[in-house]
Amino acid sequence: MRNHKPDNEMEAVNTNEINYFSVKKELDSLIKETTELESLVSYTFGKNEFNLQIKLLEVTDEVMINIINLAKQHIENWRIHTFEKGYFSIQALNDNLFDAEGILNNLKIRGSAIYGEKQIEVTKKRNLTQSEFSLIINLIKKFTSHKADLDPLQRLEQAGCSVYRPENSQISFNDFAGYQKVKDEVKETIILPLKHPDVYDSITKATRNHFESNRPKAVLFTGPPGVGKTTIARIIAYEASMPLVYIPLENIMSAYYGESSKRLALIFDIAANSNIDGLILFLDEIDSLAPSRNEKIFEATRRMLSVLLRKIEGIESKTNYLTIGATNRKQDLDQALLSRFDTILEFPLPDIDDIANILKLYAKHLNKDENLKLAEKLKGYSPRAIKDICRRAERSQAREMIDSGEKEVKLPGIEKYINSFSLREKI
Ligand SMILES: Nc1ncnc2c1ncn2[C@@H]1O[C@H](COP(=O)(O)OP(=O)(O)OP(=O)(O)O)[C@@H](O)[C@H]1O
Ligand SMILES: [Mg+2]
Repeated sequence: MRNHKPDNEMEAVNTNEINYFSVKKELDSLIKETTELESLVSYTFGKNEFNLQIKLLEVTDEVMINIINLAKQHIENWRIHTFEKGYFSIQALNDNLFDAEGILNNLKIRGSAIYGEKQIEVTKKRNLTQSEFSLIINLIKKFTSHKADLDPLQRLEQAGCSVYRPENSQISFNDFAGYQKVKDEVKETIILPLKHPDVYDSITKATRNHFESNRPKAVLFTGPPGVGKTTIARIIAYEASMPLVYIPLENIMSAYYGESSKRLALIFDIAANSNIDGLILFLDEIDSLAPSRNEKIFEATRRMLSVLLRKIEGIESKTNYLTIGATNRKQDLDQALLSRFDTILEFPLPDIDDIANILKLYAKHLNKDENLKLAEKLKGYSPRAIKDICRRAERSQAREMIDSGEKEVKLPGIEKYINSFSLREKI
């Protein structure tokens, strides 16, 4: 008669078998600590049955043959149960080929593209032996590496980021009017070091006792909504010819509730392990990690924050990597987070000259007097609001032309702009 064992523990009958706890420990450290594997590999180890699943991209004949070959490297004898299009099943035989006893309890591998997800499934009705376990580890390593084959920017996109590739972006300093001080500072403290890191490092190598980079690694953009923080980040990417990875913190928090800190860690890990030469990570709405009084949200943001603090530091060691954070609630940010940024760039609301220059971009047909007159009235408005006001004036003009059946193009006069700004909030 068999002893009663706790539910999760199977009886080890021969010395080759590894006990439940060591299998679990090793699998957990492989799967749970590699954030990306967690979405691909899952297993259960219940009473009298071990079951593991690996999600695949495809189950072709070639994949099936590869699995069988790998299986044979670890366990000599197998019988092929089924091998047909999109489905196969193999079972390990006993060491003595003619001994069929208990064979149904042996290790079984199935690959399937037919039922639900494409996957490999490994099952065994007893504890695993050492060679079975190394087969499983190798299956996991071999059949999850397709993730690593994707280009890191695609993986970042898969993980929920938007990626702006400089070759597809046409937004440059010419599209950003006024704000000369901000632009000069961006050029000098951010773009130049990104483009010529070696020059900066060669100086500090000679001036410092211990070498330490003096290039900015993490920059914070602060200022009210609509003053161009996101736009400048994209301009930096374009001017420095680097991809910009847009990390939507707010979205991550809501879409991956409970998993959000893991998701954030995954994003930083992919970026840190990529060999891209130059990358900008843009953390928009970083104030969504501000401490909250709501306890549930508090716990989630606290975990995200601690991941962020650790990971920003890790990514800083990569040459030519820059983290940019943006917020319009700097005063609410966690102090530890705030201190991670070595440069803080304030974006004020535009002054009269800035507004006049912005109007030259969005209402270039107005003459100098009209431009100044309108600029005067738009004091206190954000560039986003100004752009929107110009858009409204154009639409209203277009509607009038359509209504009147007028064919000749007539441009909106200053009164249209004045009329449309009275309808718009300042920010
Ligand atoms: N200096 C500028 N010249 C021309 N257009 C500008 C300027 N600043 C901002 N804009 C325009 O205003 C709009 C809003 O800018 P942006 O999204 O960069 O603001 P933001 O500071 O990131 O706002 P938020 O805090 O809401 O995220 C964009 O369409 C951008 O093109
Ligand atoms: Mg923005």
